[in-house]
Amino acid sequence: MTTIAIDGPAAAGKGTLSRQIADAYGFHHLDTGLTYRAVAKALLDAALPLDDETIATKVAGEIDLSGLDRSVLAAHAIGEAASKIAVMPDVRRALVEAQRAFSRKTPGTVLDGRDIGTVVCPDAEVKLYVTASPEVRAGRRHQEIIANGGKADFATVLADIARRDARDMGRADSPLRPAEDAHLIDTSTMGIEAAFQAARAIIDAALK
Ligand code: DC
Repeated sequence: MTTIAIDGPAAAGKGTLSRQIADAYGFHHLDTGLTYRAVAKALLDAALPLDDETIATKVAGEIDLSGLDRSVLAAHAIGEAASKIAVMPDVRRALVEAQRAFSRKTPGTVLDGRDIGTVVCPDAEVKLYVTASPEVRAGRRHQEIIANGGKADFATVLADIARRDARDMGRADSPLRPAEDAHLIDTSTMGIEAAFQAARAIIDAALK
C-alpha cells in the first residue's frame, strides 16, 4: 500500500496533477478540499451558521466521501465558506479521520490538500508540495472563469488568492506549509505536462 501526499496553495495546479498521478499509478484519489467544501455546502444549504464549531463538527462527521461532486462543490462561495470552517480544530479532526481511513485503500492512494504531508499522512511514501507565484495562480484562475463564460477582473481574483493564502497559511491548526521531507514543484513556468513529468520522476525514484 502506497500513499502519495500532495499539498499546496489554491490554484497551484495540484488537483489536475493529483488526478493524473492517480490515473498513471492506478491509485485511488481524494481531493480533501472537497471534504471541507461538502461541510460548507451542507451548512449553507441548511441555512446553518458558518461559525458554530459544534454544528459544523456534527455535519463533518456525517460527510460521505463517496458522494463528493466536484462540479457542484467548485462554486466560489463554497470555497470561501470552506476556508472559514477549515480553521475549526474539531471539524478538522472529524474530516482527517475520514481522510486517513481513505488513505489505507489498496493498492495505493493519492490525497491532495493543505496538510496531507504534515498531518493527515505524515508517513506517506512520497510527499509533493506544488506551488506557483500568486500572480500566476490568479492568472490561471482568471482565465478559467472567463473560459467558463463568467466575469471577473484580475485584481479581484489576485486579492482573493492572497486572502485565501493568508487564511490557509495563517491558521493555528494545521496551517499550509511544506512537510520537511516534501519535494517542491514550482509550476510558475511549467505547463501541466512538464509538472506531471517532474512529479513522475520524483515518485518513481521514491518508490524504487
Ligand atoms: O483546495 P480547495 O480550494 O478545494 O480547499 C477549500 C478550503 O478547504 C481551503 O480554503 C482550505 C481548506 N482545506 C484545508 O484546510 N485542508 C485540506 N487538506 C484541504 C482543504
